Amino acid sequence: MGQLDGKVVLITGAGGMKGIGRACALKLASQGADIVISDFRREPKDLPPQEIKAQWRSIDSVAEEVEALGRRCLKIWCDLTVSEQIEDMARRAAEHYGHIDILVNNARAIIGRDRVGITELREEVWQRFLRVNTTAVFLNTKFVGRVMIEKRNGGRIINIASDASKRAKPKTAAYATSKFAVIGLTQASALDLAPHRITVNAVCPGSVNTDRLNYWEADQAQAKGVSLEEFRASIVADAAKSVPLGRIAEPEDVAKLVAFLASDEAAFITGQAYNVNGGTLFH
Ligand SMILES: NC(=O)c1ccc[n+]([C@@H]2O[C@H](COP(=O)([O-])OP(=O)(O)OC[C@H]3O[C@@H](n4cnc5c(N)ncnc54)[C@H](O)[C@@H]3O)[C@@H](O)[C@H]2O)c1
Repeated sequence: MGQLDGKVVLITGAGGMKGIGRACALKLASQGADIVISDFRREPKDLPPQEIKAQWRSIDSVAEEVEALGRRCLKIWCDLTVSEQIEDMARRAAEHYGHIDILVNNARAIIGRDRVGITELREEVWQRFLRVNTTAVFLNTKFVGRVMIEKRNGGRIINIASDASKRAKPKTAAYATSKFAVIGLTQASALDLAPHRITVNAVCPGSVNTDRLNYWEADQAQAKGVSLEEFRASIVADAAKSVPLGRIAEPEDVAKLVAFLASDEAAFITGQAYNVNGGTLFH
């Protein structure tokens, strides 16, 4: 018996081969949950070379892994910049399984184009970050929240925020703003949904060893004349030096906290924002 037997979880941005969304899908499925995974269709030029090399097929590949664990998996292609698609995703998931018990708002806009100083930041890039990282979290909470309220069985909403939700770094105005906003949204929606026994919490990872395409990394690798894999490995090694526990997070480190917050054990925890960072930030 798993602690999530009979539960249904919806996870956004879950197509990455090394992504936090995939790790959450596998962790929650291994604890008995049936899964809805979503992502948006990306051009090959927007995919990490590692995924192309491995012939990774986004949520189609993740669904096969979930099913291999003996759980059901519904795949939904959904572009989170389009409100109608978000509303439709909640409707389809609820129709398919009859209920949604856990929502993991995990997706984020692809980083890189935003990594410029504030005076160089293009408005359309700013808007996209707020749209994917903040507004889509609001809309998913709204539409899935309605499904949870209607079923009168409580629920769990877990927003994947960031250490950037608590401390900005240079050249991250769009990302940090969009992620700070997620903390406010987490607190406000926790209060609105508390009467329905729906908890809302945020998880704030520090650097995580993922490889979803990051234009900034691709550009830097090219500038240095090394492969993206080599450049990524050097970033991971450098970042580990400033982490008290001596390494950056793996996606599974984040998924373990998500699984706890999704469980009955966390029934009295709401409106909080927990770090998973190896000791780099304390508030
Ligand atoms: N990787 C890290 O170092 C790190 C650190 C702190 C916080 N986080 C947070 O963790 C979460 C997951 O991070 P990750 O590194 O696994 O993510 P990622 O960047 O690898 O992938 C994010 C996913 O969101 C999807 N996505 C992007 N735009 C979309 C759109 N318009 N519609 C639908 N889906 C879209 C992408 O296709 C991708 O699958 C994010 O919220 C991120 O901000 C990550």
